[in-house]
Amino acid sequence: MPAPHSDAFVLFGATGDLAFKQIFPALYAMVRRNVLTVPVIGVAFDPWDVEKLRARARESTVKAYGDAFDESVFARFSDLLGYVSGDYRSPETFAKLKAALGQANRPLHYLAIPPSLFETVAQGLQQSGCAANARLMVEKPFGHDEASAKELNAVLHRFFDESAIFRIDHYVGKEAIQNLLYFRFANAFLEPIWNRNFIESIQITMAENFGVQGRGKFYDEVGTIRDVIQNHLVNVLILLAMEPPAGRLEDDLIEEKVKIFKAIRTLTPQDVVRGQFVGYHDEPGVAPNSTVETFAAVRMFVDSWRWADVPFYIRAGKNLPVRCTEVVVRFRKPPHDVFAERLQGPANELRFRINPQITIGLGSRIKAPGENLVGEPVELVAVDDGTGDLAPYERLIGDAMEGDNALFTRQDAAEIAWRIFDPVIGNVVPVTPYQPGSWGPPTMAGFEPPFGWVDPTV
Ligand code: BG6
Repeated sequence: MPAPHSDAFVLFGATGDLAFKQIFPALYAMVRRNVLTVPVIGVAFDPWDVEKLRARARESTVKAYGDAFDESVFARFSDLLGYVSGDYRSPETFAKLKAALGQANRPLHYLAIPPSLFETVAQGLQQSGCAANARLMVEKPFGHDEASAKELNAVLHRFFDESAIFRIDHYVGKEAIQNLLYFRFANAFLEPIWNRNFIESIQITMAENFGVQGRGKFYDEVGTIRDVIQNHLVNVLILLAMEPPAGRLEDDLIEEKVKIFKAIRTLTPQDVVRGQFVGYHDEPGVAPNSTVETFAAVRMFVDSWRWADVPFYIRAGKNLPVRCTEVVVRFRKPPHDVFAERLQGPANELRFRINPQITIGLGSRIKAPGENLVGEPVELVAVDDGTGDLAPYERLIGDAMEGDNALFTRQDAAEIAWRIFDPVIGNVVPVTPYQPGSWGPPTMAGFEPPFGWVDPTV
């Protein structure tokens, strides 16, 4: 029997940045597709009224859609909006929310608020009766280490069943990331070579050519490993490394993902490089003597039959030369050098680019024109123009409202992800400065997959 659809969407933190940048545009897009027709109730401390929330939602969607903004779609969205203002610690706020929910008795509550408030809000929801039959969607960071993630899970479980909790990682909702899973398991040709016998290494790069963009305070409590590696990029690794699910249920997929989480080796300081861009200390909100990393590279291993000894390298950072996220799967050299070329570089590679444009590239060697049998590298490239893509928040809010948890992080995965990183978090590995616009600190010298990192700009 399909799970019942949520009959209201409650947005805690409705006046905040995430609501403005991501959630209103996603809700508007859902209204445009006629998949959102239930009340949307914003909740926040600010003493606004619904008109002010409507104005804010309008500004957000105009900004997001530009010329494609459609007044009639927005009018439908605007009609769904309601607003409750109040302190999250006050039972009165939740009584107002209960009244605003009216007949709705299966709401989805989205916590776009600091994690320190999760417990207060979850408790307020339960005491007011707003938690009954409800779903709860929570944003990262989900804890800051294994112990705090466990504690947070225990707190949320006091008020919500695991099946009602949706821990969101927006990266997993991206079209290109979905395609990694699809491409691997919808094409049989990959399977025979998708293992340690044929694959030499895998590298994942998430480069951003901008700094912390006014989020200094948030970033300085988090750093690159917690911000994007421990969640977004590990989730990419999981999709590359997992086994095909045996069944077609959501749980079958989640089970396979969790098996890989369990097989990832806990990191040691030798597996990590940390860097900080020169000028980071001048960012508003950053501590003057901060040692938080704005760049990190890690070397990971998946201790399984399929992946034994294959290194997975991940690097990510702010103020790097380009904005690009991509995966490069590097295959082993041909076993015998038929053309006596003494090939030194990588023989063949598969590239999955996640942004700025979804791309699949097959890097091969072909014969160079001319008399001799000598080769040159070429890449066969397929580029998707992005038409029809669902934005990650649109997809994931829609899934959660339908009770589909396949793309969300289950409790055990949320905790294991920290187990992997706990020993290297903080200042265990010294942070080294790097120049904005470079590929990280000098300590990156020699920290690379066999045949080096691929430069996405080349
Ligand atoms: C967020 C991080 O989760 O992901 C940001 O907090 C990062 O620091 C962002 O810039 C990248 O996401 P996207 O979808 O813009 O590639």
